[in-house]
Amino acid sequence: MTQDELKTLVGQAALHYVKPGTVVGVGTGSTVNKFIDALGTIRDQIAGAVSSSEASTARLRALGIHVLEAAEVDELGVYIDGADEIDHAGYMIKGGGAALTREKIVAAQSHQFVCIADETKLVQTLGAFPLPVEVIPMAAARVMRQFAALGGSATLRLKDGAPLVTDNGQHILDVRGLKISDPLAFETQVNQWPGVVTVGVFALQKAQICLLGTGAGVKTMVF
Ligand code: 5RP
Repeated sequence: MTQDELKTLVGQAALHYVKPGTVVGVGTGSTVNKFIDALGTIRDQIAGAVSSSEASTARLRALGIHVLEAAEVDELGVYIDGADEIDHAGYMIKGGGAALTREKIVAAQSHQFVCIADETKLVQTLGAFPLPVEVIPMAAARVMRQFAALGGSATLRLKDGAPLVTDNGQHILDVRGLKISDPLAFETQVNQWPGVVTVGVFALQKAQICLLGTGAGVKTMVF
């Protein structure tokens, strides 16, 4: 199976975790796009979705799915999202699509995080994928130096030759060369740095379930 077919497989499998009549939390990315397409087939059975990005909101609305603001809903039963890396404890690196801040907010609002990913995303130790960090532009140079002190090399993410601007009006740093052996401690540490909006380690908001697309079908990992 191709990577795209594996993404379709896990996107469809995630429907199993959507309870009828509820509002579902929806992440961002190419794997989530497959889930959104599957969600469109049961749109009359759900109350709507809280979205983690402008891109997902547009796709949900195009399929006729009602999109609510996060503030309109107290708690969400389930949040479905992809990952750039996931380890065997359910800790993840996210933010390849620059939506990490809203993803973390919606994940924090949800009882259960169901990660959907193809098998290339499963790792022993987080850090081979460049770690996305959303920063307030004024703090970018200082935060880059702080990562250098940890052995990482941070670069400003560009789009069309200019700094990428997130849905929140901020910038993204991508940090290479880190080996994140204690994701909880790492996330807690970087969260304290002035000017960091969100670090792309999802340890405090880790996955409880991962639907992993493999050549042998969908493997369910429970953490
Ligand atoms: C976006 C994300 C995505 O979940 C992550 O980048 C995985 O994307 P894809 O499903 O396209 O591989 O965190 O900010």
